[in-house]
Amino acid sequence: MLTQLKRLLPGCTRDALWLLLLLLVSCHQGSTSCPSLCTCYFSPPTVSCQSHNFSRVPLGIPVNAQRIFLQNNLIRDLRVGTFSPHVVMLWLYSNNISSIQPGTFRELRKLEELDLGDNRHLRSLDPETFRGLVKLQSLHLYRCQLSSLPSTLFRHLFSLQYLYLQDNHLLYLQDDLFVDLSNLTHLFLHGNRIRVLSENVFRGLTGLDRLLLHMNRIHQIHRWAFHDLYKVTILYLFNNSLPALSGETMSDLPSLEFLRLNNNPWACDCRARSLWSWFQKFRVSSSEVSCVTPSDRKGMDLRFLPESDFLSCPLSNPNQVRTSTFSTKLRWKPMGPSNGNSNEVLRESSNNSLNNLYGLADGRTGTGEPNPSSFYKDLQSNDIYSPKYDSPTEEENYWAGYGNEDGQLRENCIELDCPPSSGTAVVSQGLGPRCLSLVVLLHIWLLLLQPQDL
Ligand SMILES: *[C@@H]1O[C@H](CO)[C@@H](O)[C@H](O)[C@H]1NC(C)=O
Ligand SMILES: *[C@@H]1O[C@H](CO)[C@@H](O)[C@H](O)[C@H]1NC(C)=O
Ligand SMILES: *[C@@H]1O[C@H](CO)[C@@H](O)[C@H](O)[C@H]1NC(C)=O
Ligand SMILES: *[C@@H]1O[C@H](CO)[C@@H](O)[C@H](O)[C@H]1NC(C)=O
Ligand SMILES: *[C@@H]1O[C@H](CO)[C@@H](O)[C@H](O)[C@H]1NC(C)=O
Repeated sequence: MLTQLKRLLPGCTRDALWLLLLLLVSCHQGSTSCPSLCTCYFSPPTVSCQSHNFSRVPLGIPVNAQRIFLQNNLIRDLRVGTFSPHVVMLWLYSNNISSIQPGTFRELRKLEELDLGDNRHLRSLDPETFRGLVKLQSLHLYRCQLSSLPSTLFRHLFSLQYLYLQDNHLLYLQDDLFVDLSNLTHLFLHGNRIRVLSENVFRGLTGLDRLLLHMNRIHQIHRWAFHDLYKVTILYLFNNSLPALSGETMSDLPSLEFLRLNNNPWACDCRARSLWSWFQKFRVSSSEVSCVTPSDRKGMDLRFLPESDFLSCPLSNPNQVRTSTFSTKLRWKPMGPSNGNSNEVLRESSNNSLNNLYGLADGRTGTGEPNPSSFYKDLQSNDIYSPKYDSPTEEENYWAGYGNEDGQLRENCIELDCPPSSGTAVVSQGLGPRCLSLVVLLHIWLLLLQPQDL
């Protein structure tokens, strides 16, 4: 290279040529180009291309980019070779993605967060779509149009902690769908069309903390469906079609703290016995469980039916004969102003109207959208309504409200959050200004050389 340059510029001194080379090299290194209309940042290398109506992923995304923001565009498909293995965070929510070529994410071994939510033409996923994502912690597939999931879709995603599948059209969940997800803590399945929970549907979810299944069409839950869920603290099953739920099934949830069973067609005949019995033994903050049948118990709360209501029921399970079953020692206390211990027992203030607590009043009052703060009272608001849900256009707003799943990132100064003085700056918008100035310098230097040396 040096000799070639020397032939080109015979008058140059060796030192001058080295300087030229150095300038070229540094120019090249600094010129991680930025796709046009996008904004790029240093440390961590970030490309932000959101809200530009791009119909495909723009070309020229720097290979070293760790965070790629492509949300709020009209991208239609994703193909192999688009993203480099350096990417850690990839946001593609609120696009128009309908197809993802298998292998698109295969090499992304550093990827921790993938947001494909709100792509309303995404109807199916190849079983291999997420293969290789060994570091993936957070996978967003909410509000697409998925009606089924390949049974091996989530295999090997050992690092996954958050899985957002709410507001799709899912009809069923097959056994062992989540079997590798022992690190999963949040599983959001509400707003689908699920009818049945089978015996091994949640097998392997031994770390799960929150399981949201409300707003489905569940009418049957297998006796052992919750057998691995011993860490679950929050379970929502409201607004389903359950006439009955076995108390034995509930006994598999020893960590349960918040339970919502309201708005199911509860049958308070003998089928309710084991659930009633479970309520007498287990302390949990629960919604109302209103009977729908038989007619003489309609509107009564299943939890507070007198024991005598079940005396004529045949005892199917001999274990339940034990009188301790009906012990009032740990009896679940109804809320009410007269109950001094209700706060402690229920973790809920006696002031709240049932409406506010159990989320359905919002629907009844006809105000339209349920108010998330009461609807999901037990959850941190960004569990459910992450700011992404509303697809903000201002990145600052997004970060301002961001939390939870990547708290560790938030603790450091993310450059989009940082005050301008903190040293991180826009690298380039279109053509790199640093490279540009070097090119200009080079020109000046060559012009100065010409008279004497060339
Ligand atoms: C994107 O398209 C919408 C609808 O056509 C339009 O209103 C909006 O201005 C476009 N945005 C940009 C950045 O071109
Ligand atoms: C989104 O994709 C669907 C199907 O792929 C297509 O019919 C529709 O026109 C697209 N919408 C826009 C706004 O590009
Ligand atoms: C996932 O869980 C396993 C145990 O099931 C644990 O050994 C491993 O460190 C966890 N991985 C991550 C990334 O949390
Ligand atoms: C239950 O959810 C469905 C939508 O999934 C909704 O149409 C219905 O009104 C809800 N029922 C109640 C009682 O909230
Ligand atoms: C009960 O809650 C309502 C609104 O949620 C509030 O206005 C009222 O002051 C509360 N009452 C008590 C006694 O805390």
